[in-house]
Amino acid sequence: MREAYIVESVRTPGCKNKRGKFKDTRPEDLLSFILKSCVEKAGINPAEIDDVMVGCAFPEAEQGINIGRIASKMAGFPDSVCGATVNRFCSSGIEAIALATLRVQAGWSDVAMGAGIESMTFVPMGGNKPRPHPEFSKEDPTAYISMGITAENVASRYNVTRQECDEFAAKSNEKAAIAQKNGWFTEIVPTPAVKFVPQADGTFKKETFIVSEDDGVRPGTTAEGIAKLSSPFKFGGVATAANSSQTTDGAAATLVASKEACERLGLKPVAKIIAYAVAGCKSDEMGVGPKYAIPKALKIAGLTIDQIDAFELNEAFATQAIHCVKELGIDINKVNLNGGAIALGHPLGCTGAKITATLLSVLKRTGGKYGIVSMCIGGGMGAAAIFEMV
Ligand SMILES: CC(C)(COP(=O)(O)OP(=O)(O)OC[C@H]1O[C@@H](n2cnc3c(N)ncnc32)[C@H](O)[C@@H]1OP(=O)(O)O)[C@@H](O)C(=O)NCCC(=O)NCCS
Repeated sequence: MREAYIVESVRTPGCKNKRGKFKDTRPEDLLSFILKSCVEKAGINPAEIDDVMVGCAFPEAEQGINIGRIASKMAGFPDSVCGATVNRFCSSGIEAIALATLRVQAGWSDVAMGAGIESMTFVPMGGNKPRPHPEFSKEDPTAYISMGITAENVASRYNVTRQECDEFAAKSNEKAAIAQKNGWFTEIVPTPAVKFVPQADGTFKKETFIVSEDDGVRPGTTAEGIAKLSSPFKFGGVATAANSSQTTDGAAATLVASKEACERLGLKPVAKIIAYAVAGCKSDEMGVGPKYAIPKALKIAGLTIDQIDAFELNEAFATQAIHCVKELGIDINKVNLNGGAIALGHPLGCTGAKITATLLSVLKRTGGKYGIVSMCIGGGMGAAAIFEMV
């Protein structure tokens, strides 16, 4: 296999669904902007790119019609640059980066991109028209189970307490607020957003403004302060609005190039993926996915868990993140150093690409060598990718 290097990895801020700063900005605009920014920051002519793989968990409506191709064209890439949409729900973004890496490793592409997009404002979780299979949904209702119920199942089956979840959520917000204050989100590209401003004549004027920060962070969150919230998923449950991931709009992109392309084009390698694994588990406790995927990826890479310097473990819910950290014996001080999805949001199909960009900036800042991106996946799976800085 050839060497495939990550040259650039960037993201837009993550903004709250429906109430956040991207609520009027179409997903194609977010994605095409970040694809173009990634290419410009890498300092490469877009004509060199062979293919753009884009993760999206609900690829329909505004983010349908193969948004991978549409956004590449909107980014101004020439017709020769191809585009595809990739879906493995919450891991779609990392799946797209892994596919771009594989293309380069196989020698099928010299330069490829892996990206992610989700506007949960424009396309809600579950899609606009959910149509579970009538017979199969009776045979196995867990295949279509609510994600919140899976979070509650993990808590009750593996003894994760409300207190632990609220402390974890407070910490996520605290770390994110510190990272924002210190300017540690170096992977964010300030992104144009649109708003529609009412005019005196009753019409609306489309105006553009720049968003530079994730807008869902709640500094000052304390475990005591959120203890009174109740679970929207289960009577007496433990997963609440404060200790579950936020639903979010955002886009992210990573550029991957072969060793030969880096030399020919003068590109500077930053990191490489040394292993990627997916693992299946029960649908009704999908949050445990990372506890199977991480060991699988470590085995492929020939590494042990204590050799990993930083983890971006998606906080779909505090219940499942806490359980996976405990079960795998991960040092909590290496997990989500800039906060996680509870504070920063989880734009489903974008998340894998988003937290890849964050992981690489964490590893750059801390001088770490190995990092893991991992998440649980609706339907009952986990994904884990291991990165090595070069
Ligand atoms: C849990 C969930 C239903 C909550 O949705 P929501 O009601 O829109 O959540 P919000 O962030 O608006 O919070 C609602 C309220 O909770 C309270 N709250 C939330 N976080 C808080 C915090 N850190 N501190 C204090 N109060 C908080 C506030 O009162 C807030 O209202 P406000 O924003 O007007 O102040 C939603 O976030 C969700 O479904 N998350 C999981 C998504 C998911 O399943 N993803 C896939 C995983 S596989």
